[in-house]
Amino acid sequence: MSGTSLDGVDAALVVVEEQGGRLGAFVEAFVSVPYAPEQRAAILAALSGGPQELCRINIDLGSWLADAALTLLQRAGVSPVDVAAVGSHGQTIWHEPPTGGVAGATLQLGEPAVIAERLGVPVVSDFRARDVAAGGHGAPLVPLVDQLLFSIPDGRRALQNIGGIANVTLLPPEGSGEPVVAFDSGPGVAVLDAVVGIVSDGADRCDVDGHRAARGQPGEELLARLLDDDYFRRRPPKSTGRERYGAKYARAVVRQGRELGLSDDDLVATVTALTARTIADAYREFLIDDLMPEECIVSGGGARNPTLMQMLVAGLDPVPVTDLSALGWDPDAKEAAAFALLTHLFQTGRPGNLPSVTGAAGPRVLGKLTPP
Ligand SMILES: Nc1ncnc2c1ncn2[C@@H]1O[C@H](COP(=O)(O)OP(=O)(O)O)[C@@H](O)[C@H]1O
Ligand SMILES: [Mg+2]
Repeated sequence: MSGTSLDGVDAALVVVEEQGGRLGAFVEAFVSVPYAPEQRAAILAALSGGPQELCRINIDLGSWLADAALTLLQRAGVSPVDVAAVGSHGQTIWHEPPTGGVAGATLQLGEPAVIAERLGVPVVSDFRARDVAAGGHGAPLVPLVDQLLFSIPDGRRALQNIGGIANVTLLPPEGSGEPVVAFDSGPGVAVLDAVVGIVSDGADRCDVDGHRAARGQPGEELLARLLDDDYFRRRPPKSTGRERYGAKYARAVVRQGRELGLSDDDLVATVTALTARTIADAYREFLIDDLMPEECIVSGGGARNPTLMQMLVAGLDPVPVTDLSALGWDPDAKEAAAFALLTHLFQTGRPGNLPSVTGAAGPRVLGKLTPP
């Protein structure tokens, strides 16, 4: 898969096991293959391009996804003939949630036929379309996997992913019958990355190790303005993307911040605080009966930003915050691994969505098959 950050392609080699109706997964290998600047530029051009650019990027992305899968297998010393299937999320090109009776629209590209041709393995792709067709957001899709892998009988857990967009899965105790609550809280690192790109004149792609934000101070006036946002007040189901929290949003933030006299580091600190605040506020706002989780377990690239993590710790206090390595998982590998599990569900004819989360009319088998 490739996330909204456009940082690169993540590929996970996952062994899926099922014993006594319980699903287990073991990540045997993981690679994250960064996009070269030209590849990222081509994707960005396609996002605002016409049919010609979209057609081209679909094929190119298919080839880059195949490259990542082959690199993964080579590093793991596993031959494609020993792989049951490739599950490919692809790259989101556009994501529009359903609004006021108008169906949603979402598009992920990365031609599966190219992957099937290069690997000779069945490819399952386009996981979001069926949920959207059933009136859902097509997102988030990781919550069912979170529930299958990480729910525990005697505790409430929050699985918090911080990629370009921040999304949370609030898991009730296993077997309690309570619904899973999951949604996109708003920006993860997409706005932060874009602001860093602007203030560094394109020299830096992200706030490496949170250094800039640590040097600055969040601008309270600007932060208050940014928090006054209809999306943050909206109740779940809800999903968002770089259409809303992307480059244009970041340019407006920088303009306002400079008018308010904020330094570049203050601006970076402000958008870092925006991510932490909107996550923490969402837990308090949208949890049924105010049932706070007993722990918050972070995954995604945001877990690598210590300043963001410290702000999240402060915002969620007294709920302890850890990252997925506490459960023996590479925090970067979870999202890609989740699509391996969704592929297993597809192959065994079982639904991959949680209608309570996506807003779809019911459970649906997600994905489309390209034969080897
Ligand atoms: N060392 C680091 N310091 C700060 N941020 C980091 C670091 N490593 C990764 N990141 C952040 O993680 C992002 C990638 O996270 P990822 O989970 O792949 O998001 P997505 O799923 O949207 O692609 C990068 O764009 C960057 O903002
Ligand atoms: Mg990524």
